[in-house]
Amino acid sequence: MLTPAFTRADYEVAADEVRRRTHQTPKIAIILGSGLGPLADSVSNATIIPYREIPNWPQAPHGGHVQGHKGQLVIGEIEGQSVLMMQGRLHFYEGYSMHQVTFPVRLMRVLGVETLIVTNAAGGLNPNFRAGDLMLITDHINLLGQMGQNGLMGPNEESFGDRFPIFTQAYDKKLRNKSLEIAQRENITLRQGVYIALSGPAFETPAEIRMFRMWGADAVGMSTVPEVVVARHAGMRVMGVSSITNEAIDDQDSVKDVSHEEVLAVGAKIVPNLITILRGVLREFPE
Ligand code: HPA
Repeated sequence: MLTPAFTRADYEVAADEVRRRTHQTPKIAIILGSGLGPLADSVSNATIIPYREIPNWPQAPHGGHVQGHKGQLVIGEIEGQSVLMMQGRLHFYEGYSMHQVTFPVRLMRVLGVETLIVTNAAGGLNPNFRAGDLMLITDHINLLGQMGQNGLMGPNEESFGDRFPIFTQAYDKKLRNKSLEIAQRENITLRQGVYIALSGPAFETPAEIRMFRMWGADAVGMSTVPEVVVARHAGMRVMGVSSITNEAIDDQDSVKDVSHEEVLAVGAKIVPNLITILRGVLREFPE
């Protein structure tokens, strides 16, 4: 069920439309996860482009829409840097193919973006994590990709990168160090850990949670890694931050439970801290 991959020309056509709307040439892009949309409000001189107005942008398979996820590019300035923000991402669980989920990342690359900052809402697996914490992603477990759902499947697009990209240092060390430095200075708790990507949309069972913990994962979510894979293939630097919106439940007799509403509500509360860290990184961007 591999839908044909986009061609380089498909991304170029989309990029032409973005260039027609703005003269800014952002080198940094930020993908906003669930509940984190308000980050886009800190952009000045914004050009807003709804996804549906971009040629070749993947259409929602069923016209669907997930609460808390908008659908537009916001291009503007933060801390003197030109940035491209995705307010709302495409999720595999919505029925998009992996080529579709990762379309925006290749579009960014064609537009000249060199650094991708990814954010998401995630469940905390590490027993030390609390709802409301932020976690700097140090590495990932690509359960989706290793099970055959990888945006790089199919013919390799050599103009972006090599057939077998290397993932030893997927998350840029200078960007990680800068984030930790800012967090410390601003008195914000910034955890560090491994993010495991699943397809969703079903939340995990307690047995799965216990297994992921044994595998060395610290946070669990339904996004991000597909985009990171395609960004790294294209040679982009990557930084990732998870908002720990809930503690994953490892006991089938638990009286607590997780909900999408909780994910959005806690995500919104963490936004100010995340904005502080992202602003700091943009202001003191390590080359
Ligand atoms: N599991 C998977 N994805 C999530 C979670 C979770 O507990 N919280 C936020 N996104």
